[in-house]
Amino acid sequence: MIKMIKRLGDYLKADTQNSSLIILADERPKFVYFGKRIGDSDDYGFSGIKSPRGFSSADDVDNSPCLVSSSGDGHSRENMIRVVTSDGSAVLRLRLEDVSILDGKPAIDGMPSSYEAKECVVFKYYDAASSVALEQYFAVFDDSDVIATSVRLINRGKEDVKIKRLFSLQLDLPDGDYEMLTLEGASCRERIPKIKTLNGGTYLNASYSGLSSNSSNPFVALTKKGPNGFCVESNLVYSGNHKETVECGNLGGVRLLSGINDYLLDYTVKAGESFCAPEAIFTVADDIDGASRAMRDFVDKHIISERMRRRERPIVVNTWETFLFDFDEKKLSALCDKAAELGIEMFILDDGWFGKRNDDSSSLGDWYENVGKLGCSLKEFGDKIRAKGLGFGIWVEPEMISADSDLFRTHPEFAMTIDGVKPMEIRRQLCLDTTKREVRDYIVDAISCVISKSGADYVKWDCNRSVQELKNSGSLFHSFTLGLYDMLKRITDRFPDLIIESCASGGNRFDLGMLCFTPQIWTSDNVDPRYRTAIQEGTLYAYPQISMGTHVGHIPDWHTFNGTSYDNAFSVAALGSFGYEFNLTELSDKDTEIVREQIAFYKKWRGVLQFGTLTVNERVAERGISCYTVADEKCEKAVATVIVTQSVFNRDYPKIYIKGLNADYIYKVGFRQQTEVDGKTTFTASGDALACVGVSLGDMFSEGAVGKNYNSIQTRMMTFEKI
Ligand code: DGJ
Repeated sequence: MIKMIKRLGDYLKADTQNSSLIILADERPKFVYFGKRIGDSDDYGFSGIKSPRGFSSADDVDNSPCLVSSSGDGHSRENMIRVVTSDGSAVLRLRLEDVSILDGKPAIDGMPSSYEAKECVVFKYYDAASSVALEQYFAVFDDSDVIATSVRLINRGKEDVKIKRLFSLQLDLPDGDYEMLTLEGASCRERIPKIKTLNGGTYLNASYSGLSSNSSNPFVALTKKGPNGFCVESNLVYSGNHKETVECGNLGGVRLLSGINDYLLDYTVKAGESFCAPEAIFTVADDIDGASRAMRDFVDKHIISERMRRRERPIVVNTWETFLFDFDEKKLSALCDKAAELGIEMFILDDGWFGKRNDDSSSLGDWYENVGKLGCSLKEFGDKIRAKGLGFGIWVEPEMISADSDLFRTHPEFAMTIDGVKPMEIRRQLCLDTTKREVRDYIVDAISCVISKSGADYVKWDCNRSVQELKNSGSLFHSFTLGLYDMLKRITDRFPDLIIESCASGGNRFDLGMLCFTPQIWTSDNVDPRYRTAIQEGTLYAYPQISMGTHVGHIPDWHTFNGTSYDNAFSVAALGSFGYEFNLTELSDKDTEIVREQIAFYKKWRGVLQFGTLTVNERVAERGISCYTVADEKCEKAVATVIVTQSVFNRDYPKIYIKGLNADYIYKVGFRQQTEVDGKTTFTASGDALACVGVSLGDMFSEGAVGKNYNSIQTRMMTFEKI
């Protein structure tokens, strides 16, 4: 069997399909190379890795590309580890004790991580003075260019030690001109790509709310410009506070650190105990498109659980934007009938079905049905939906409690509060103290009961506030995240076929930790296709399309009041885990037929739209045109979606160069029928002609089309079938 990781003299070399990582395993192991795949050599000494680097020994340590750095060990910059021992000292001098190569990789205590690793290399370090040991893992996968890394700190001494910082990844990249891309934003504009040219100093990407956040996603892309350029991307398998720093070294070179945010972190590790940092993943490619393709592919194959991997997702209708809290049996029943008649496959009952919840002021925690609103018990309601031929899904917000709830009245101690401090209500709710086992037991039982009673096939797991009652502050944020994982694990073990879509005020917790348990995440509450295009484009830098919950919403849009056609809204929403979120019963006859055709189209092309390999043809940030191709594994079937978000007068008719097809195949090219578009015919063309000659967007930029769509968007969906 061919080994992916091997020893070559003093070096360890890990080869993925297209990249190589080379590490010098001396007493302070160092990165020698991380880039495109190269052949083996017995000695990489020619790289200068063993030679002194700076003007003094301190500069030498500070600037050598070590795998770990810690306080008091010659590093005078952002370092990876800060530990304080019982005498108050913060000196940690880890030296290599042992290196080994294992098949697979070990699990990480209490935290989700990638699966089906082929091999991993383990570096074991020890610092005799503090009795602190560290294990550092780098794992490779035989079908991916992504490497997974994690660290475990072990207290081998007799006294407690305190972790002030334990990042998961340190990557020192060579001198050069870099651009950093991060995914930033807020509610309704999540994961908008932000590009910064690195120009000295340290750049920060972090969250502080207890959630991975919509302000800064844990994903980072670093592109080195010019000759010998490349793009390195990293992400964290973690859903709580994270922190990435990108530091331009004073002698050149760039250091990327990523891990749990050290904000307030003060975690006690008792004698004989250990602490695991979450897994980080990283990859390298020639450019950002290549690195992002590797990331999406990895998430699809090694993060989304095996049970859900490549499992086709149903077309849903969701009641949230349809009715908000204002529904009754009659409205729900009419919506369900219409959905069934249109070919929709699942009915999702969103917020407002439980306790006495008619607005957001009450009842979180009271996970029993409001019979007055449903007209029957939850079990009967689920049965009714199934009798109409639809699956049933239900909304819950397990980590939260309303002050006005039976749960709070009977168990006020379940809420996260601090004696003598008035709890801060956000969205009129409090966090449950899920760091306590008894609280988690209660939630797991209550939510399990909802699932079994209703026979739910799908759960929308929401979370609508940040953590602010900072008691036990040194460990609180991390324990809150571990508590979440414990609950998710127990529920997914109990209901292995359940599809969970996580959500947090839209996409406020869109990360790899959640994706290990919940194979899809609600991307954003902003479903206006014009803005959604940018949100989805940002998300696709790091996550596959199947992970995105994407719905056609109310037109005009409820948040932005923008109008467009259902055809355009569909084109944007079709790339992902698709559904509708408006009152279908109010559709005109004409629009009913449009929606019916969309559903038939989605079902025909579902495999490609949900799991096809995605290629970026053009990004909206460039000239207001977004275009992606998704193609099946053999490149025999594909769909390309074009979205024009800025209709410009008097512009040379742009073309779209369709990449991601097989250059040698001849395709029958078709256009999805759109009512407002005439004259689109099918034609045949080779894959290379489509990529090189390009397809004209002329009719989208005619004077008439631009005028009509000036404040709206235009879309086309093209289909490709190998002849
Ligand atoms: C926030 C979510 O993002 C919405 O989709 C909806 O589920 C509401 N919460 C319900 O309160």
